[in-house]
Amino acid sequence: MVPVFGTSRSPLAYEIDDRELAEIGAILSEKRCFSLTDYKSACMKRRIAIRMRATHCRDTDEYCRLLQQKEEELELLQKTLTIHVSQFFRNPSLFHKMRLQVFPELFAMAELRADSTLRIWCLGCAGGEEPYSLAILLREHFSRELKQVETVILGTDIDAGTLATAHEGEYAADRLKEVSPLFMKRYFRPQGERFRLIPEIRDMVTFSQDNITSIERYRASDVVLCRNTLIYFARPEQERILNGIADVLPSKGVLVLGKSETLVGKTRKRFTPFCPLERIYRKIA
Ligand SMILES: C[S@@+](CC[C@H](N)C(=O)[O-])C[C@H]1O[C@@H](n2cnc3c(N)ncnc32)[C@H](O)[C@@H]1O
Repeated sequence: MVPVFGTSRSPLAYEIDDRELAEIGAILSEKRCFSLTDYKSACMKRRIAIRMRATHCRDTDEYCRLLQQKEEELELLQKTLTIHVSQFFRNPSLFHKMRLQVFPELFAMAELRADSTLRIWCLGCAGGEEPYSLAILLREHFSRELKQVETVILGTDIDAGTLATAHEGEYAADRLKEVSPLFMKRYFRPQGERFRLIPEIRDMVTFSQDNITSIERYRASDVVLCRNTLIYFARPEQERILNGIADVLPSKGVLVLGKSETLVGKTRKRFTPFCPLERIYRKIA
C-alpha cells in the first residue's frame, strides 16, 4: 500500500494492493459472511480507502486491527462498500415507460393467469425508494387493476440499516427531488424536516434482508428491477446473478437494469430488448 501524505502527515490517498484487499476480505468473510471477491476489486479498494482515511489509519495493518476490535467499524465498512445511494423515481423516464408500456402488458398477462397475481421484485432496494415509487405509480395509475390482480411488491437488500429506513418509510428531502408536488401532497406527510410515506403506500411493499449472490433463494417474479447494484459486481458474478433472475422470470417476464448496466455473456441470449434506452428487457420463452 502506498499512502500519499498531505501537509499534516495524514494520508490523502491509499493504493491498496491485492494482498491487502484479500486480508480485509478475510476479516469481512469471517465476521460478517460478506464476500468481497464477488465485487469489482478496483471499486472495493477505493471504498476501503475512504474508511481508512475517515479512521485516520496509516496502513492496512492498523486498519485490520481496528476491524478486528470494533464491530461498529466493520458495520461502517460494509455500508461503505455497498453504496446506498437512491432516490424516489430515479431516472423518471423509466417510470414513464413502465407506466405506459410495461405495467399495462404485465397486468393483462396477470389477469389471464389462474392465480391472477403480479409479483414485482426490487433487488438491491436500498431505503425502499424504488419499490415505493412503483407502489405510488400503481396506486396512481392502475387502481382498477390493483382491485383485480393481487400485486406483491418485494424489496430486498443486504444491508439491515438501509432496510430499517425502508420499513420506516421516512426520508430527507434529497431523496425526494423527483417527486412532483402533487405526489408529495398525496403520499407524504411532513415529520419535522423529513417526510413520511402514508401507510397505504408503506403497506404495499414488503422488505426482506437477502444477499443478491444467493441465487438459490431467488423468488418467482413477473418483473425484476435490479438497478445500480449489478455494476459493483465482477463480471462472472454479474452473469450468475442475471442467469438466476432469468431462471425465476416467466416467459415474457421483465428485467430492468440501471442506466450504466447491461446484459453480459450468455444472458444476452435469454432476454430480448424491450426498451434498450431504459434498459428494459423481456425474458425469451
Ligand atoms: C446504489 S444502491 C441502488 C438502489 C436502487 N436499486 C436504485 O437504483 O436507486 C445499491 C444497493 O445494493 C445493495 N447491495 C450491495 N451488495 C448487495 C448484495 N450482495 N446483496 C444485496 N444487496 C446488495 C446495497 O446495500 C445498496 O442498497
